[in-house]
Amino acid sequence: MARFYVTTPIYYVNDAPHIGHAYTTVTADALARWHRLLGDETWFLTGTDEHGLKVAQSAEAAGRTPEEQAAVNSARFRETWAALDIDYDDFIRTTEPRHYAATQALLQKAHDNGFIELDSYEGPYCVACEAYYAEAELVDGNLCPIHLRPVELFKEENYFFRLSRFQDRLLDWIAVNPGAITPEAKRNEVLGFIRQGLEDVSMTRTSLSWGVPVPWAPGHVFYVWYDALINYATAIGYGTDDERFHRWWPAVHHLIGKDILRFHCVYWPAMLMAAGEDPPAHVHVHGFLLVGGEKMSKTRLNQIAPADLLPEFGVDGFRYHFLRDQQFGPDGDFSYEGMVARYNADLANNFGNLAARVATVVARACGGIGPAPSPDSVLAPVAAAVVADAGAAWGHVAPSEALDETWRLIREANAYLEANEPWKAAPGPAVDAVLGDALEVLRIVAVLASPAIPRAAAALWARLGLPGSPTDVHVPDGLAWGGYPGGLPVEKGDPLFPRLATPGS
Ligand code: MSP
Repeated sequence: MARFYVTTPIYYVNDAPHIGHAYTTVTADALARWHRLLGDETWFLTGTDEHGLKVAQSAEAAGRTPEEQAAVNSARFRETWAALDIDYDDFIRTTEPRHYAATQALLQKAHDNGFIELDSYEGPYCVACEAYYAEAELVDGNLCPIHLRPVELFKEENYFFRLSRFQDRLLDWIAVNPGAITPEAKRNEVLGFIRQGLEDVSMTRTSLSWGVPVPWAPGHVFYVWYDALINYATAIGYGTDDERFHRWWPAVHHLIGKDILRFHCVYWPAMLMAAGEDPPAHVHVHGFLLVGGEKMSKTRLNQIAPADLLPEFGVDGFRYHFLRDQQFGPDGDFSYEGMVARYNADLANNFGNLAARVATVVARACGGIGPAPSPDSVLAPVAAAVVADAGAAWGHVAPSEALDETWRLIREANAYLEANEPWKAAPGPAVDAVLGDALEVLRIVAVLASPAIPRAAAALWARLGLPGSPTDVHVPDGLAWGGYPGGLPVEKGDPLFPRLATPGS
């Protein structure tokens, strides 16, 4: 059986969840749902990153201990994910004992292998990134290239990870596995960075205690990023259940934002190599969601929380927007107007109309009992192509494309109804055939769209009179044309996606 292990970054608990975090998490959730449809053994991991200076500082500002701050804010992420129907298999918190065990085991191994050594370092440091920068990377001589905030000069005697020794092995890894980092532009960025020459990096801190203790050096804790990355190994049993770890590793799919590219595509693979493990099989990198052309941030006061949008768009409307409108890869501009327009066009009109129309005519012309599709329907080859193309798109982490394909089938079915106008014709076999075909399209769409809009897909399934749920279908064989049996009671119900008022109208 194929296995699919998908991860999101673990989110810092100094911040509240916003739509940028939700975007990655919804994408991971939809991919996991897709792979469950395929019958893959699937493991979907998300969680929170709870150590480091930023968390310690934000706790202090909130008048809490770091433990309290982490617990309060980690819970907020879990609540947000529950509100968005995020069906993760595991939620990891880096303050859990299992994570201390895995971090210490993995880095002890790297230390035993001679890749972690004591040294001293001085350099510009951005507290918001929790990272040192080279002078040449700073903007205007002293600003962090990500946050455009002044960096601070830090000096510490620390344990250093001998990253410089992994340059050739990292280049070989990428050369042999060109699909390991997608999209290609991001792979090239990583290659460029490695080719410039890698420097050793400071891996421990003595200046704070809020971190995982270094097992061989009392008083030192691992710098937050080095414990954080290991969460992906912790959750599948590293250091506690080796057999389980090797069942899942290295066939992972990491989803990350472009700002954490180096950590995932350079440091993390090298850490694994240092501990004698394989680098991750796949890192999929996405751009930022911009609001008014700018990255969301606390300081710019332009953060949008999922809860700001849910009452109006609903869970499925929210999920659909971020999967369909924000392509996975490039930056995308979030706009409320765009979200309303997409919701109305795709969900209220195309999807909603097809479902409502078919149910209305079935009620009138067939006494509410859905007829079976015809085996040689003109829609059959369209459906087969859509199932194949949407599947391929999910397979290469392109939800927007997968949903566009799925909606192609909806558009074709609407056009087919308009061409045949079953609502005008007298009841009889010709009308039955058209309606049966449309019902079969709805069945297929309910399954294909279920990773994005699970609630509406399940509701539609029930309205078609089908037993169980769309997630019971095995893809692709369960989507072969002709699966709608006919003879089932079809129900119209309220609109699945009520139309929204266009802003300003
Ligand atoms: N804790 C680290 C990740 C450790 S993973 C081992 C971290 N956390 S974060 O909460 O700051 O960011 C988590 C993810 O959210 C990153 O992938 C980041 O790119 C993403 N986003 C934060 N703001 C974003 C947008 N405005 N748009 C899209 N994603 C963005 O980094």
